[in-house]
Amino acid sequence: MLPNWANRTLWTGDNLDIMRGMNSASVDLIYLDPPFNSNRDYAAPIGSEAAGAKFKDTWTLSDVDEAWHGEIADRDPTLYAIIDAAGLSHGKGMKSYLIMMAVRLLEMRRILRPTGALFLHCDPTADAYLRMLCDAIFDARNFRNQIVWKRTSAAARGVRKVAAIHDVILFYGATSAMETRQVYTPHDPKYVSRFYRLEDEHGRYQAIDLTAAGERYGDSGEPWRGIDPTAKGRHWAGPGGGFPAHISKPENWDSMTTRAKLDSLDELGLIIWPKRGGGGAALQAVLEHVIGPTNDGYDSRRAAALTRRQGACRLPDAEAACPVGAHHHSQQRQWAGGA
Ligand SMILES: C[S@@+](CC[C@H](N)C(=O)[O-])C[C@H]1O[C@@H](n2cnc3c(N)ncnc32)[C@H](O)[C@@H]1O
Repeated sequence: MLPNWANRTLWTGDNLDIMRGMNSASVDLIYLDPPFNSNRDYAAPIGSEAAGAKFKDTWTLSDVDEAWHGEIADRDPTLYAIIDAAGLSHGKGMKSYLIMMAVRLLEMRRILRPTGALFLHCDPTADAYLRMLCDAIFDARNFRNQIVWKRTSAAARGVRKVAAIHDVILFYGATSAMETRQVYTPHDPKYVSRFYRLEDEHGRYQAIDLTAAGERYGDSGEPWRGIDPTAKGRHWAGPGGGFPAHISKPENWDSMTTRAKLDSLDELGLIIWPKRGGGGAALQAVLEHVIGPTNDGYDSRRAAALTRRQGACRLPDAEAACPVGAHHHSQQRQWAGGA
């Protein structure tokens, strides 16, 4: 369905009422940064633009609508059993918090397109319980990953526990039809200058050994082009990290013998031969960007950067909705959210 909300709308009310008015299957991406059940009350810093704004993150049964219990029990008995179990093992506060989250996550399932994705930001207080909720709501098979966001590198050592220095982002596909694209991050320049010292028109590369430790009696232990790896207690090993982006992998690569693979690598210009003969051949391993987000520090601007990155691994023109408190500054995408 098409969205029935205007691009760049910011709502200030309860997201449950807002989502209930949104068309089913009209959203491609949801990033939510909800209350974490941290058992604290928050106030915006004095002097900040949001000064005076407050929100309570302590949950009791009086905070949750009686009607939600029945609604969850009717719509999804498995989900209700999970919430009930959390109440027994963790306590009533967790149960109330999970009821509040469950009614909203059920709405999110409804408004997400089948190809849509959900990123749920939480912390170690409730991450395990929220994962169970999401497994029940979105199907455990649609769980894509638990992204660990290291917020700080040091924290005061507790006497009875190890301090938590990370948040958790649970990533789900609305259905198995959700696909991602790779998001690349540049390497640290120090790492590049230390390990990728060679360069040609395709970029920087390093020479890596074409053999690995240990004798093999099969094809990978046989001599090739006059070099016998077995004589040195080694065997031939191919490009572990895959092919560089500018070269396509030969179609029949997986069925090739080791020595045919080496011939093929040589034809593709990926083997570095010693200039004066003698010695071993090396594989040219081209520097590629690393996959995944950088994850140092935490502030709202970084939260915005993370949201953009989550969006970037989805379709470039994806419509995004951030029903709880997420800042979203994307220029290319349609979005709407809560402030
Ligand atoms: C963990 S904070 C997120 C803060 C925000 N993402 C940021 O980086 O500044 C959770 C936010 O959710 C808001 N919130 C709590 N219940 C809500 C609801 N039912 N509907 C919309 N927002 C809600 C709170 O007011 C709070 O601002």
